[in-house]
Amino acid sequence: MSFKISAAEYQEFHDYLEDSCGIVLGPNRQYLITSRLHTLLRHAAIDTVAHLMERLRSGDSRLRVEVIDAMTTNETSWFRDTVPFEVLDHVILEDLYSRKVQDPTLWSAACSSGQEAYSISMVIEEFMTRRPMAFRNASILATDISTKMLDQARSATYGSAQLDRGLTVKRRMLHFEPFETGYRVKDKVRNRVRFRELNLQQEFATLGKFDCIFCRNVLIYFSTTARAAIVERFWNALKPGGYLLLGGAESPIGSHTRFQSMIENKYLYYKKK
Ligand SMILES: C[S@@+](CC[C@H](N)C(=O)[O-])C[C@H]1O[C@@H](n2cnc3c(N)ncnc32)[C@H](O)[C@@H]1O
Repeated sequence: MSFKISAAEYQEFHDYLEDSCGIVLGPNRQYLITSRLHTLLRHAAIDTVAHLMERLRSGDSRLRVEVIDAMTTNETSWFRDTVPFEVLDHVILEDLYSRKVQDPTLWSAACSSGQEAYSISMVIEEFMTRRPMAFRNASILATDISTKMLDQARSATYGSAQLDRGLTVKRRMLHFEPFETGYRVKDKVRNRVRFRELNLQQEFATLGKFDCIFCRNVLIYFSTTARAAIVERFWNALKPGGYLLLGGAESPIGSHTRFQSMIENKYLYYKKK
């Protein structure tokens, strides 16, 4: 691939990415295209961005998925940022338990390789050991746009290096078992989670209603307009009194007044009014 990307080529790719998945690269980020697509384009024998756009516009859906996969940031870890999972345990699950909700529904939107969804499930599992009658039918929907990430998430299998990121030894012993060359999340934690491909740009009215939505560290890449539209749809997808947990740098833009802001240890989270 030639690494010279004209301003017009950059704009065309930029707009294509924003339309496809909401991600806004911002001005002059040509280096992101070259660094992230280099290998993929070499394998596909594509040597200019103009050629790439031609293939994408011709409806090459496999290439489209690969390009989106390569351009998205999949960074994640177990119990990322800690506090949201403490809030889940001490505030949200306690609230649902006191309201006698037997079958809470939770959603990890933009779940990457599954660590967030399984961390949620581990918190529920641990809550249930303290209160054995609670949440027999809890379910977690985990979605992402990246099919590659979803494949790993569904396998529930991780190498030691991945396990080291955010898991205590106690949780590792409690919730994982050796599997092939790595470790697999145990059935009890795994069976509560189902994975599904979903682009947050699309409608999600058919997913059902949730007691709690985690959508962290993805809206930050979207335009203000796209963020506001997604947060509004989250509001619709929440049950009355449901909770929205965003990333530390994200807020329910455009829908502030429809949520009650709550704070724990400097972390802001939101409850549907
Ligand atoms: C940085 S990861 C965050 C993972 C996890 N929520 C966390 O906080 O650790 C962002 C994820 O958002 C996904 N993503 C990006 N654009 C998306 C879209 N339009 N719809 C759904 N998922 C998207 C990416 O594939 C990636 O897995």
